[in-house]
Amino acid sequence: MKFFADTADTGEIRELAATGLLDGVTTNPSLIKKSGRKLFEVLEEICTIVDGPVSAETVALDYETMLKEGQKLSKISKNIAIKVPMTVAGLKTCKALRADRIMVNVTLCFSATQALLAAKAGATYISPFVGRLDDVSEDGMELIGDIRLIYDNYNFQTQILVASIRNPLHVLEAARIGADVATIPAAIMKQLFKHPLTDKGLEAFLKDWKKTGESIL
Ligand code: E4P
Repeated sequence: MKFFADTADTGEIRELAATGLLDGVTTNPSLIKKSGRKLFEVLEEICTIVDGPVSAETVALDYETMLKEGQKLSKISKNIAIKVPMTVAGLKTCKALRADRIMVNVTLCFSATQALLAAKAGATYISPFVGRLDDVSEDGMELIGDIRLIYDNYNFQTQILVASIRNPLHVLEAARIGADVATIPAAIMKQLFKHPLTDKGLEAFLKDWKKTGESIL
């Protein structure tokens, strides 16, 4: 499973990229606002840090303007993936951009039938929002399982990008189901490294090592 960072904070992205485990980045208008930076400036910087796909979201609601926005954003770098909303205009834009071989991430997906439409429109990625479904007492991970089944039934190449991840269990379940990508906030990515028994075990090993009086180097 690929790991994308769900952030527009270039400090966080640099730190995660340094682990060698980062495969891409997703941004959205809320994350751009949180970064406090200009859209094009911050996307350009992210694309210098990460070679993998960097999602940049359109904001127009009509097809013509959305397509122009997507075309303009795609010129930032060859690794930009254009994020369009799961609407009729969004899927029309998806088809048009894919015809020009531009990567497209269809976002704000909350049902398996929406995911089916996005795959038929040739989306590179579909972004089902698991945390926001859990928030309204629907099972976000059940949706991921349904999409996996449907895509495998028809051999759709659209990649399932699990979004709105709120905890490490979402990452675990996404991997169990066989999702292609998890886009993860930096704080949750850091949590994945941690286990109290790792810390406790390391402390005990180092204590005993000190008693041997030896050194490796
Ligand atoms: C990323 O592609 C999505 O926009 C993001 O994961 C949404 O997360 P949120 O529901 O925590 O805002």
